[in-house]
Amino acid sequence: MNRGRRRVCLAGASGIALLGASCGARVPLTTGAIDDPYVPPLPFDAGAPDGAVPLGPALCGADAVAGGKLATLAVGSARRLTDDSTYDVWLCRDDRGVYALNNECTHASCPLQLVGGPRFYCRCHGAEFDFNGEHPTAPAIQPLEHYAVCDDGAGNARVDLALVVAPASRLP
Ligand code: FES
Repeated sequence: MNRGRRRVCLAGASGIALLGASCGARVPLTTGAIDDPYVPPLPFDAGAPDGAVPLGPALCGADAVAGGKLATLAVGSARRLTDDSTYDVWLCRDDRGVYALNNECTHASCPLQLVGGPRFYCRCHGAEFDFNGEHPTAPAIQPLEHYAVCDDGAGNARVDLALVVAPASRLP
């Protein structure tokens, strides 16, 4: 049975005239238990439309890596953070705030180079990503991963490599 029609019928159960007018003779008139009652959908909060999460000190875990002074990272610039073995990320700032990108091309994992634009360029096979790590050119298909960035409370950035966030997330 159509749920919408059933709702109308149940809503009119208190008035026989309305019931007859809404449902017609094909709907059985019962007074027993309702086996399939209409359940309204639960409220669903998906957060910001772009999935962005507010970045702050509480978000980063104890293993977050040091990212240097936030104040010295100018809009339109990026700072490479790497220990040459376990992590390699770009700490970037645009006009919305600070964010961190995985410095690993999504085509075949080569490290990227910051070039004019600014944008990121892969010397292995020529893919490019915009300054937010998105809109890759061939042969890359996937955008770069974003990691949570936090302020340590003393004006220093920390990057949590275990926490992937939506591309629109920023530390203000
Ligand atoms: S590894 Fe970057 S384009 Fe192939």
